[in-house]
Amino acid sequence: MARPENAQYQSTPAAEDTTMFIFGASGDLVKRLLIPSLYHLDRDGLLDERMQIVGIDLAANDDVTFRQHLKDFIADKAAASHVESRDSEVTKAHWQRFEQRLHYLQGDFTKDEIFTQISRYIAQANTGNALFYCATSSNFFGEIAKRLGKARLLEESEGNYRRLVVEKPFGHDLESARALNAQLLEVMNENQIYRIDHFLGKETVQNILVARFANVLFEPFWNNHYIDHIQITAAETIGVEKRAAFYDKAGAMRDMVPNHLFQLLAMVAIEPPAAFGADALRNEKSKVLEAIRPWTLEEAAHNSARGRYEAGTLDGRRVPGYLEEEGVEAGSTTETFVAMKVMVDNWRWVGVPFYLRTGKRMSARDTEIAICFKPAPYAQFRDTEVERMTSNWLIIQIQPNEGMWFDFQTKRPGPELKMDTVKMGFAYKDFFDLPAVTGYETLLYDCLTGDQMLFQRADTIENGWRAVQPFLEAWAQDDRLEGYAAGDDGPAAAHELIQRDGRRWHKVGEPTGPGVAPVPRRARRP
Ligand code: BG6
Repeated sequence: MARPENAQYQSTPAAEDTTMFIFGASGDLVKRLLIPSLYHLDRDGLLDERMQIVGIDLAANDDVTFRQHLKDFIADKAAASHVESRDSEVTKAHWQRFEQRLHYLQGDFTKDEIFTQISRYIAQANTGNALFYCATSSNFFGEIAKRLGKARLLEESEGNYRRLVVEKPFGHDLESARALNAQLLEVMNENQIYRIDHFLGKETVQNILVARFANVLFEPFWNNHYIDHIQITAAETIGVEKRAAFYDKAGAMRDMVPNHLFQLLAMVAIEPPAAFGADALRNEKSKVLEAIRPWTLEEAAHNSARGRYEAGTLDGRRVPGYLEEEGVEAGSTTETFVAMKVMVDNWRWVGVPFYLRTGKRMSARDTEIAICFKPAPYAQFRDTEVERMTSNWLIIQIQPNEGMWFDFQTKRPGPELKMDTVKMGFAYKDFFDLPAVTGYETLLYDCLTGDQMLFQRADTIENGWRAVQPFLEAWAQDDRLEGYAAGDDGPAAAHELIQRDGRRWHKVGEPTGPGVAPVPRRARRP
């Protein structure tokens, strides 16, 4: 196959041949993320030439209508961000080749019939390898696994793998997550299960490990001797959109915290793994999540704040409140914002609070980790005008302005000793030409090549749920919700939560520490 024009992938080998079966092929995830990602992998020469992709769903489709439906959607989106749009002619040519891989099986995956058809399909394929992808509603994950097991489709033979990819949400609480793990492990081994957390597909999330463990600079300071506290934020400006059927049952905590936010926490807090391999890394992550202090219900209530967005103005536009959104139940008590404090009780982090927050309809889209260092131990400059030393902050921007920024003190020019906070920064876009990607490309490539490093293991999932369980139980006893206007960064209680500890939230959408207004020197001149 011709190698891709994307020089970045020149040395990456194509994955071996497989047949990929996608359950829930008519769903949103497939057209918005999976197919565009597979298309990108194909464009970059990372799929075997013979690989086939089979969509499975109830809807009456065939290969032709399935391809057309995806093509129409992707063509509409091409001008937007998700699909390559730099050269529509190239897109067209690639698409024509790519769509030959796409097929459709109409059927009900809660009945045995479709699994017989899948067996037949594999028997006629070039390879016995099969990747099954559950892109369905989470109610079906266990059922699909059970039926795959019953049809003996998960039995691996010499040289042929069988793998199952499971989307989120993985369970609804600790008990249901445990039950689902047990159900999956009844019919296959852990090394066949790929539990997706799409945050781990983000370059900047993976970069946390490189920044920490490939540089000598950060690690000596990465502990409770030098770090005062850590803030992890995933702020979104979007509302519930068309997902109320799912979201109104889940809420911000279940939707974002035990998975995405805890994965960020784990990346920041883990010990250096003994080797750069799936098990070594996942052992360390699991240990960190296990070290999260289990709050009592009173402590969980005290250390958390929940909120729900109300009508407000965002980007100059009036937007409705959560209760007015289509599909939200009248009298819903679902939170769209959560802030919480957790403590990681281990040698490195004891005494360092981790403040986490996430919400919809906040002031800006911003996923970041803000690390606040302790102030300098002794202020030599106390006789000068500068009484108070400001802390150093390291801001790791996950999205949308990917990069890292460091705030530090410097002397302002002039006869008097006056200090200013300035920043050093690294923006991804200044150094790398990042192709248009969805974030799923790396994860899909890893499923195809059998690398589980960026996937959640059964114990990591359960440790995540165990840590949020006290919050869920505390809220079940008291489901009062505080409102916040769309465009605000959560309710007053979220600010009180951190202010009680003498700290404040890092401003959403600002790649510097609190209180710092970086004005370039030239701009200050008259
Ligand atoms: C999903 C959540 O897992 O992550 C959504 O279900 C959320 O509610 C999304 O909007 C955020 O992902 P990203 O990649 O846009 O930050």
